[in-house]
Amino acid sequence: MADRLRLGVNIDHVATVRNARGGALPDPVRAAHQAVAAGADGITAHLREDRRHIRDADMARLATELTKPLNFEMAATEEMIALAQRLKPHAACLVPEKREERTTEGGLDVVGQHNMLAPQIVRLREAGCRVSLFIEADEAPIAMAAKLGAPVVELHTGTWCHAVADGHHDKARAEFARLAKGAAFAASLGIEVHAGHGLDFDTARQLAAVPDFAEFNIGHFLMGEAIFVGLDAAIGQMRQAMDEGRAAG
Ligand code: PXP
Repeated sequence: MADRLRLGVNIDHVATVRNARGGALPDPVRAAHQAVAAGADGITAHLREDRRHIRDADMARLATELTKPLNFEMAATEEMIALAQRLKPHAACLVPEKREERTTEGGLDVVGQHNMLAPQIVRLREAGCRVSLFIEADEAPIAMAAKLGAPVVELHTGTWCHAVADGHHDKARAEFARLAKGAAFAASLGIEVHAGHGLDFDTARQLAAVPDFAEFNIGHFLMGEAIFVGLDAAIGQMRQAMDEGRAAG
């Protein structure tokens, strides 16, 4: 069983709002500091190839200013690995990236791409980054993550969250079981298990009951909720939901 379940707050969509007008506000780094003050255990930011939200200057400021761990989400490209080697974030989470997608769709194909990923993981580890692989909660990618020496996997919760939101109860049950089984398998291999994508108060509360998860990374829902109740309250309520779920598990 993991110790206290950590909450990583993804601040990408503060930058999405900023970029809608092209100026400097709202500042995602200010949001990161405020999230930390409100109880976030870490900050996640995804520097996409097309820079649609977080930009290089944001990532550089996050890497130097933050008082809590920075999780740098990135595609396994030469450009991003070189940047991580320079910025040395606490963690580097490798995700698949397609230019035309609205958000990250599906987990990283670690089985098909292991030859390309192996040296990139070594480079990130040598730079002192805790490498995390964003993958589907299936046996083959989890076993490959272990083989590649990744200390962390982040299991993709998007399919489950969509099934819950759409009221597809049978699919939701099956997806939850897949996540729980994947988390237990990864933990049995000595890998730290994170989860992320599409989580809200209800799904975070439910998933927190699975003892093998050590960290959730949550962005879009929290930023949307912050519009109505403020960032501090949204993070406080998420913390409470996760604590309730863990206590019930
Ligand atoms: N974890 C990973 C690896 C992601 O790619 C994302 C989306 O950028 C998240 C967590 C956060 O997902 P959401 O914004 O849906 O909470």
